[in-house]
Amino acid sequence: MTTHHSPLTSNTSHLLVTGGAGFIGANFVNYWLNNYPDDRVVVLDALTYAGNLASLEPAKNNPNFHFVHGDICNQELAERLLRDESIDTIVHFAAESHVDRSIHGPDTFIQTNIVGTHSLLKAAKSVWLDSHSSLLRPQSSVLKPYRFHHVSTDEVYGSLGPEDPPFTEHTPYAPNSPYSASKAASDHLVRAYHHTHDLNITTSNCSNNYGPYQFPEKLIPLFIINILEGKPLPVYGDGLNIRDWLYVEDHCKGIDLILQKGRPGEVYNIGGNCEKTNLEMVETLCKNMDERKPSSSLTSYSSLLTFVKDRPGHDRRYAIDSSKIKKELGFEPYESFETGIRKTIDWYLQNESWWRAVMDGSYREWLDRQYGQKHN
Ligand SMILES: NC(=O)c1ccc[n+]([C@@H]2O[C@H](COP(=O)([O-])OP(=O)(O)OC[C@H]3O[C@@H](n4cnc5c(N)ncnc54)[C@H](O)[C@@H]3O)[C@@H](O)[C@H]2O)c1
Repeated sequence: MTTHHSPLTSNTSHLLVTGGAGFIGANFVNYWLNNYPDDRVVVLDALTYAGNLASLEPAKNNPNFHFVHGDICNQELAERLLRDESIDTIVHFAAESHVDRSIHGPDTFIQTNIVGTHSLLKAAKSVWLDSHSSLLRPQSSVLKPYRFHHVSTDEVYGSLGPEDPPFTEHTPYAPNSPYSASKAASDHLVRAYHHTHDLNITTSNCSNNYGPYQFPEKLIPLFIINILEGKPLPVYGDGLNIRDWLYVEDHCKGIDLILQKGRPGEVYNIGGNCEKTNLEMVETLCKNMDERKPSSSLTSYSSLLTFVKDRPGHDRRYAIDSSKIKKELGFEPYESFETGIRKTIDWYLQNESWWRAVMDGSYREWLDRQYGQKHN
């Protein structure tokens, strides 16, 4: 049972999880229903190419789970859900999330990440703050009623040099890609709604996630699948770009702590204390794949590694200082990169039907059945 009680009902929470059919959102929904089986979880997801209903398979038959196919830009729909489902907590994951795509097609990033977040903020303000009588809004609650948690990225802080200290919550924003710029804009809007309207918000800026249900355009699942199919492992530039890796369930635990104990209006950085160059990451992945599923023709899968032309504006290094969430909320990542990568590899080995359906496009069948072939 959760401690952030619904102000309207009894002692359970009603969550609206946007982007719940995506990678982190689906992990979060499955995590939440496992840990808080009495809570209600409503997912609002537009099912873009990155949304996959199969990732919500564990939740499908749970009576406390409800999936709604829709766009966060649709303010009226969001307001209706907040009212009809007595939502007291929004966990906002929905976004366009792939940096490469933002370079070639930034428009949807602006629309979903900025306009969509703003639309959701307006819906929350309208239903939670503007239209409730004071009778329904407990004035003396220690836990402020209604929480809007915004899930963001460490990429808003820009790129670090080799000797720079990791990003803290006070690092000035310096986004370098259309993706990170759109996330930065959404962070500012969320902050503004707290300061201007006293909306009860929290924000988390997290480092690179990996784990089950990640769409295979992202580095780790792409490389696991390429290894299984004997394809090259394309590494950008010199392979020395550094990322701070976090196992996705640890991210979910961090958000859980923020929902329960985070202070309204605060920002929390979440990281894995796990800086790795892309080359180190690939070597660890290949070593584990060599052990788990040795190749019949190669001594090591690391021979599949090839260097390709760097991404334009590729940030050199990200690293997170997560001492605030550790000190204030007791957050500590449970998985090391070694244990997390083994779990991830095992998941992809055991869930071949999940990623095969993504690769051959059949994961979109639900949409085809609902809307014919006209959707994109
Ligand atoms: N993946 C990471 O490493 C990482 C790290 C830090 C922060 N984040 C943030 O976490 C969140 C989730 O990331 P992810 O990797 O799970 O993303 P994802 O791309 O896997 O999933 C995004 C989900 O949002 C949905 N969506 C997109 N546009 C929508 C719209 N207009 N309305 C409703 N739903 C829509 C998609 O259908 C999909 O299910 C994002 O906000 C991202 O910026 C991701």
